[in-house]
Amino acid sequence: MKKILITGAAGFIGSHVARLFVNKYPDYEIYNLDKLTYAGNLENLKDIDKAPNYQFILGDIVNSDFVMNLFKEHKFDGVIHLAAESHVDRSIENPMEFIMTNIVGTVNLLNAAKTIWEGDYEDKRFYHVSTDEVYGSLGNEGFFYEDTPYDPHSPYSASKASSDHLVRAYNDTYGLPVIISNCSNNYGPNQFPEKLIPLFINNIRHNKPLPVYGKGENVRDWLYVIDHAAAIDVIYHKGATGETFNIGGHNEWTNIDLIKVVCKVMDKKLGHEPGTSEKLITFVTDRAGHDLRYAIDSSKLQNELGWKPSLQFEEGIDLTIDWYLNNEEWLNNVTSGNYQKYYDEMYGNR
Ligand code: NAD
Ligand code: TYD
Repeated sequence: MKKILITGAAGFIGSHVARLFVNKYPDYEIYNLDKLTYAGNLENLKDIDKAPNYQFILGDIVNSDFVMNLFKEHKFDGVIHLAAESHVDRSIENPMEFIMTNIVGTVNLLNAAKTIWEGDYEDKRFYHVSTDEVYGSLGNEGFFYEDTPYDPHSPYSASKASSDHLVRAYNDTYGLPVIISNCSNNYGPNQFPEKLIPLFINNIRHNKPLPVYGKGENVRDWLYVIDHAAAIDVIYHKGATGETFNIGGHNEWTNIDLIKVVCKVMDKKLGHEPGTSEKLITFVTDRAGHDLRYAIDSSKLQNELGWKPSLQFEEGIDLTIDWYLNNEEWLNNVTSGNYQKYYDEMYGNR
């Protein structure tokens, strides 16, 4: 029986990883440690929450005593660490939450794993899930490789970069069996509607403006979340200790082109005249320090471990939009409460 702790599994990507592991590995015990911040939602896991091999633990990774005691109690064999503050715009408004959760929280988990494993690393693994944003911003050409020097620009990416360095330091210094992946932008079901795609789907539903930062010329490399979860599974089981893997689907879009696709598909699905949603596009003040372009080279993962994305973007965006339209209750629930306050602070004056 393997005991695996997944942190942040009530969030967007974590919920897909937990579902995959709970269903695919009935002989593993999967523990989900999550603080249930605004981004954490147990509704994301309602199809697995009664599974015999799944358990939810409410808790904050920033609390070092709590984390240490939890590890001592459960003696996890593996950790898949996704818990984080994850939204760039929020990191610009309030960096300290990002420093605490993304850096201090990660070190608390590393310390706890180091303590309970006591140098006996046989069949142990600490998997740190990170982002391509640590590599900084590309010009019009080129890709991020695993050895691209780190050059983060936002408090979010700087906090993730710090945590990546600390994870590697625990491997170099204490021999902790770590592995890291850096993934491009994810999209799909259960993403909190502060991120571009679900925000715009939700705004189109409510006939609200679509706030495009700057000229919409920034480029992101989009991967369907289920493909990210599949990559995490392969890397967790087959990746060599100490290695880093980039994850991405060679699927680059300028924001404005991507938004036009979302508008077109939404018009079709809502039975609106073509062009209706595009009229909502509103260019607003650019994000401070806005990275121009992200693009991942994932050939190491593809060649060494045989992973590749399963979905074409057209298929993925179609499934994604269907999910949000079929799960209006989920959208309404997560956008009640503090969401309006966040929205007004973020977009109210633009
Ligand atoms: P998310 O914001 O949807 O979910 C984060 C989860 O972590 C939430 O359930 C939240 O409650 C939990 N959490 C936050 N602070 C916590 C704390 N102090 N203690 C315990 N739990 C806490 O994030 P996501 O988009 O699913 O991202 C998951 C991970 O993947 C993050 O580490 C992120 O950096 C990384 N990542 C995300 C993307 C992306 O496009 N979303 C791309 C690459 C990598
Ligand atoms: P986002 O989903 O926040 O992901 P990230 O900043 O981590 O890449 O944003 C994706 C892109 O969309 C990014 O270039 C910023 C842009 N964007 C907008 O133009 N308007 C918005 O309201 C948001 C949230 C993002």
